[in-house]
Amino acid sequence: MKKFILIASFAVILISLLSFIEITPTSAEYADLTLNRYAEQAGMPPVVFPHWFHRIRFKCKVCHEDIFLMRQGSNDVNMQKIIQGEYCGKCHNGKIAWAPIYCDRCHSGPSSIVIPEARGFVK
Ligand code: HEC
Ligand code: HEC
Ligand code: HEC
Repeated sequence: MKKFILIASFAVILISLLSFIEITPTSAEYADLTLNRYAEQAGMPPVVFPHWFHRIRFKCKVCHEDIFLMRQGSNDVNMQKIIQGEYCGKCHNGKIAWAPIYCDRCHSGPSSIVIPEARGFVK
């Protein structure tokens, strides 16, 4: 009887673990997101946005949907807007977070494009 209870409770644990795993395949939510509407075409490596890094620091509401629509690729972001304080530039303005002068921190996607020296600014 004891053995049966043991096996039964083990099965319950296993099933709950499995159902947990079943929820997680939408893990794109947790992973880094690539923004590449314009970057590569304009000669810059794609932008890798570390979603999780930001999510643990800010409530979803901070960004969604005041700053970013909640769908990958749905936001029309470019550098001019960022420098003017929109999108990433709401925070990456040298006050809340570092200024958008460190190109390679955001443009870090896999690419054969090398960020030109002249664009690299001072590290
Ligand atoms: C610092 C800003 C920021 C915060 C905070 C943030 N997100 Fe996002 N989120 C983004 C950006 C940027 C994108 C990508 C938008 C794009 O590609 O145009 C995104 C995309 C998404 C997407 C779409 C992913 C896809 O694959 O299409 C979902 C879902 C999402 N966020 C959910 C959340 C949830 C839930 C939270 C809170 C736990 C959260 N986000 C917090 C900035 C943020
Ligand atoms: C709500 C504010 C906010 C917004 C919006 C935001 N960031 Fe950030 N981001 C931060 C803060 C704060 C940090 C941490 C800065 C530090 O460590 O000094 C950070 C750090 C980062 C880092 C470095 C992560 C690491 O591992 O150190 C990258 C890359 C980055 N952001 C990219 C982006 C991009 C790309 C966007 C727009 C798509 C964006 N961020 C929008 C607040 C923001
Ligand atoms: C805070 C993050 C961040 C930093 C830092 C950053 N960028 Fe960007 N950049 C982006 C995002 C987001 C986009 C839009 C990505 C897309 O969808 O193509 C973008 C797009 C671009 C584009 C294509 C669109 C346009 O505006 O022409 C160019 C070119 C570009 N960046 C150059 C640079 C250069 C040069 C630097 C350094 C001086 C830099 N970026 C620094 C986030 C950043």
